[in-house]
Amino acid sequence: MITLLTNIKELLQVRETSISKVSGSEMAVLPSIKNAFLILKGNLIADFGEMKNLPEIKADKVIDATGRIVLPAWCDSHTHIVYAGNREQEFVDRINGLSYEEIANRGGGILNSALKLNTASEEEIYEQSKLRLEEVMHLGTGAVEIKSGYGLTTEGELKMLRVIKKLAENYPIAIKATFLGAHAFPLHYKENKAGYIDEIITKMLPEITKHKLADYIDVFCETGYFSVEETEKIMEAGIQYGLIPKIHVNQFNSIGGIQAGIKFKALSVDHLEVMNPEDIEALKGTETMPVALPSCSYFLSIPYTPAREIIKAGLPLALATDFNPGSTPSGNMNFVVATACIKMKMTPEEAINAATINGAYAMGLSETHGSITKGKKANLILTKPVSSYYQIPYAFGSNLIESIFLEGEILA
Ligand code: NIG
Ligand code: FE
Repeated sequence: MITLLTNIKELLQVRETSISKVSGSEMAVLPSIKNAFLILKGNLIADFGEMKNLPEIKADKVIDATGRIVLPAWCDSHTHIVYAGNREQEFVDRINGLSYEEIANRGGGILNSALKLNTASEEEIYEQSKLRLEEVMHLGTGAVEIKSGYGLTTEGELKMLRVIKKLAENYPIAIKATFLGAHAFPLHYKENKAGYIDEIITKMLPEITKHKLADYIDVFCETGYFSVEETEKIMEAGIQYGLIPKIHVNQFNSIGGIQAGIKFKALSVDHLEVMNPEDIEALKGTETMPVALPSCSYFLSIPYTPAREIIKAGLPLALATDFNPGSTPSGNMNFVVATACIKMKMTPEEAINAATINGAYAMGLSETHGSITKGKKANLILTKPVSSYYQIPYAFGSNLIESIFLEGEILA
């Protein structure tokens, strides 16, 4: 099947040769071709260029994209899409004055979701989660990372990871799975933290790797959750089982999680709402991708990741949703891009780079996703008629997507 898109107003994020990520001042550059054509062959990008150089070609389908922009589908490198039920009551409790921390301390928060997860059947969880996955695909996401972490028991964590695997098998979107058994301490281990870490290392990890259920290992490194020492122990064990670390750090406190992640060559360190100068310094010269989650800051009214300082330091930055029932019940990457521009003062070019190629890097997919490059997956967003790509963050509440291509096919 050959699809030809013609008269594209602007084809964004064109990279002739494959790059893995963009950093620092490079982030302000978003290469594009105006008045372009794009040829898709099967599930891949086959060719592109200016309309005046359009080759003679017999296409099965021709789409006239006059007035419309084409860009790579969003790469959302941090989500918790698989969960049961919701936490709407806690949302109202927070409106009435309780903090995220206070809710967690009285047994709500992650433990509330764990209770719901463990009492729901695998089929129920799949049915609920697939609706969220379908929703984000229609919002333009073409690759996504999904974490476990609401089981907090061996069976619960395995159940979540099996649901992620089944989603990956049934949907035309790249899915990476992350094991987040170390998301919180379950109630029955409250007085025996070492016991829970032991269960993660000696029971969960061997089962997960035996069934090839995860690519990455995550830990919520935070005051009241997992200390730096515990985080290091869990990352080390995960690495022994072939999992690469990708960790939650610096959401509420800067306690040394970034340095721990770097020490264990984490692919990404995510959240980063609270950063001190040493944290930024530590990231320089490393291969670890900093990841910001602005929808979480928005929903919890906590600080935004200091994108300007990170970029000024020459570092890369990726943007992701953090879609989860507690801190970010939204998987809308368009909102993330807009919020990064509006609240974090990222330019549209920086935000689009952060949500495509750098997002792909943060889930090990930059060879196949995140840019318009020959041989990469034909996962694309075709916008409605727009004045320029600035409109994507500018018109922050509008749906500017006309159609989505995944694996070369239009999403129905
Ligand atoms: O990334 N911070 C830790 N984990 C999630 C929230 C989990 C929850 O509240 O359910 C996050 O924000
Ligand atoms: Fe998260």
